[in-house]
Amino acid sequence: MIRVAINGFGRIGRAILRLGLSDPDLRFVAINDPVPSDNLAYLLKHDSVHGCWAGDVRSTRDSIEVGSERIHVSGRKNPVLLPWRKLGVAVVIESSGRFRSMRAASLHRVAGARRVVMTAVPSGGCDSDVPLLIPGVNDHSYTGEAVVSAASCSANAAGAVTKLVHEHLGIRAGFLTAVHAYTRDQQLLDGGHARDWRRGRAAALNMFPSASDAAMVVASLIPGMRNRLDGMTLRVPVPDGSLMRMIFRLERPVEQEAVHELISEEIVERLAGIVSIATDPLTSKDVVNDTHSIVIDPRGTLADSGFFLALTGWYDHEWGYAARVLDLVKTIA
Ligand SMILES: NC(=O)c1ccc[n+]([C@@H]2O[C@H](COP(=O)([O-])OP(=O)(O)OC[C@H]3O[C@@H](n4cnc5c(N)ncnc54)[C@H](OP(=O)(O)O)[C@@H]3O)[C@@H](O)[C@H]2O)c1
Repeated sequence: MIRVAINGFGRIGRAILRLGLSDPDLRFVAINDPVPSDNLAYLLKHDSVHGCWAGDVRSTRDSIEVGSERIHVSGRKNPVLLPWRKLGVAVVIESSGRFRSMRAASLHRVAGARRVVMTAVPSGGCDSDVPLLIPGVNDHSYTGEAVVSAASCSANAAGAVTKLVHEHLGIRAGFLTAVHAYTRDQQLLDGGHARDWRRGRAAALNMFPSASDAAMVVASLIPGMRNRLDGMTLRVPVPDGSLMRMIFRLERPVEQEAVHELISEEIVERLAGIVSIATDPLTSKDVVNDTHSIVIDPRGTLADSGFFLALTGWYDHEWGYAARVLDLVKTIA
């Protein structure tokens, strides 16, 4: 059983615990977050997006108890002070968003953890010394590194499908647009934002374009794709459920049906659990609590037997991403 700790128990940290608690291969031994344990227990139980937790959740000053599981809780801001050695932690999920370099994430190793998986693209992006791993893209190439990044939700959404299109049809150039729900990086009402002033505008009232590193990340992980992809995100006023629009100029012409056959075959061969294909006409709410990285929407595919291909897919950027982080925990443990 893999002994796991979560550093940063926010949207992603809690989604990871909710999904991972029923996994017999994982034992969650600790959570670290500055929010007090009783408040964390309350947030774990009552989730405005994913619904109320059916099980029993209790707290003490230094623990959360979920059913029969007791999880140690601390509120330290410096990872070096965390009790990872004493608790025998094998993998720390670094989901605070605060420790995004090799040096910063490695502080968990100083505290005694064997491995760290970061739930964000590292600072420095693809040029960082932290390797990026995306299930269905390059997770098979893991060679024992102590600190890895699970990249971003949008890179996971686009990654596996982009790779299979490139392998079978050749991508000359592509553009990825993530139509993305708001996150806690945005403001509830207008306020300042250091990186992107528009992320400081009222999240539930505005839609706006913003920079995204998903295309750059995906291109860097697929052989022969560097500099062939660009992209952006369009932040929209929904709390969860996002859409990925992928537009490719191909080396070889393709028809619509052939693309769906290709994706269906790959789902059977190697992308089960990572990619699925929708049958109904979905909206963003329908994909909430879906664990796939992407659900391809056949109604959003456009291929005219020429060199142009547009694909559309839905993703729960919290739930689907949390499921992939758990996949990576098992890969690197
Ligand atoms: N949300 C998504 O859909 C999504 C998807 C993929 C990746 N990510 C990435 O995952 C990371 C977390 O995102 P999130 O949406 O889960 O953010 P979040 O909801 O704000 O969660 C972050 C949590 O970490 C806590 N924290 C702050 N400083 C800490 C410290 N020094 N040590 C331990 N915990 C600390 C925060 O507490 P306070 O609130 O008190 O500051 C908060 O509870 C970010 O890097 C984000 O880019 C997010």
